[in-house]
Amino acid sequence: MKRYTIATIEGDGIGPEVTQATMQVLRAAAGHDLLSFQMLDGGAGHYQKTGQVLPEDTFAACRDADAILHGAAGLPGVVYPDGTEVGNDLHLRLRFRLDLYANVRPVKLLPGVVSPLRGFDGGGIDYVIVRENTEGLYASRGAGVLLRGEMASDSLVITRKGTERVAEFAFRLAESRNGALRDGKRRVTVCDKANILRSYAFFRAICDEVHTRHPTVEIDYAYADAITVHMVKRPNFYDVIVAENMFGDIISDLGAATAGGMGISPSGEIGDDHALFQGAHGSAPDIAGQDAASPIATVLSGVMMLRWLGDRHGDARLYEAAARVEQAVETVLAERIAVPRDLGGTARCSEVADALCRVLA
Ligand code: IPM
Ligand code: MN
Repeated sequence: MKRYTIATIEGDGIGPEVTQATMQVLRAAAGHDLLSFQMLDGGAGHYQKTGQVLPEDTFAACRDADAILHGAAGLPGVVYPDGTEVGNDLHLRLRFRLDLYANVRPVKLLPGVVSPLRGFDGGGIDYVIVRENTEGLYASRGAGVLLRGEMASDSLVITRKGTERVAEFAFRLAESRNGALRDGKRRVTVCDKANILRSYAFFRAICDEVHTRHPTVEIDYAYADAITVHMVKRPNFYDVIVAENMFGDIISDLGAATAGGMGISPSGEIGDDHALFQGAHGSAPDIAGQDAASPIATVLSGVMMLRWLGDRHGDARLYEAAARVEQAVETVLAERIAVPRDLGGTARCSEVADALCRVLA
């Protein structure tokens, strides 16, 4: 039976503790013969020691592994001369070089988790943001114009190929779901500013073309400013939202906040041949090393990883392990067995992991 190699980059800040907790939980669910975690260097701390944020041997191992699991990267003050953060290059180089074009951010309010939105309880919010992850405004990372200290500019790049494939991903995802909670309609909402910029009008036009190939899914449009209101006022209208890179980055944190926060929000950065899974949060250096972080976002990213591997390999063991871990998370939170601090509890990182393992056992 195949054993899956998981390229594992703990990274910076709380990265090591949430990664170790997640490995403990995944091993408890899947056993030791299903997953093999290959520990790899990378991040701002590694850069400080070696000058390399993503060593070539780490990149090669990520390229050759079955999937990538990551904790978090980035340390304040570790920046390039142009002022941009070094740690972020760990993600960005992996995204661009492995072509991880769909950044999938589920927004799901779990039973037992309190939303800041009145009138929404566990199960009342359930949609997915699909963020284009390789171009948009991020295409200008390290390539913008800085002119004599008087002017700076970054270009927004929207390509037909980049938009087609992320829109295709979004429509197929909608076809696989059961529709928006509000009305049961399978729906893809295109988030853009087509009213203002041609590049976003182009993004929308390509999404319209892709929609013609998915007639059972409704297409919907929302400008990036307006959608922030709707995500607060009527989150149950949404099923799948597709957005350009920068807009997706921004609205996905708002979505996370409505479903319990960054500490519970997973992400899967998915390409045709590779995928990276990490919690949506950052490295939280202020609480690093205190066993204070919540591992749940990374654990739920591990669930996404197991399901993605299951889809690729048709291996029932992976789906079974994913379902067991997901159920354990819901049990631990709904029955308040171990509630992490960001969700109003006092449980430490290790205590949440131990509680999940007890439920799994
Ligand atoms: C995210 C983060 C990243 C981004 C950073 C860490 C590069 O904010 O994954 O949402 O800006 O995309
Ligand atoms: Mn972000």
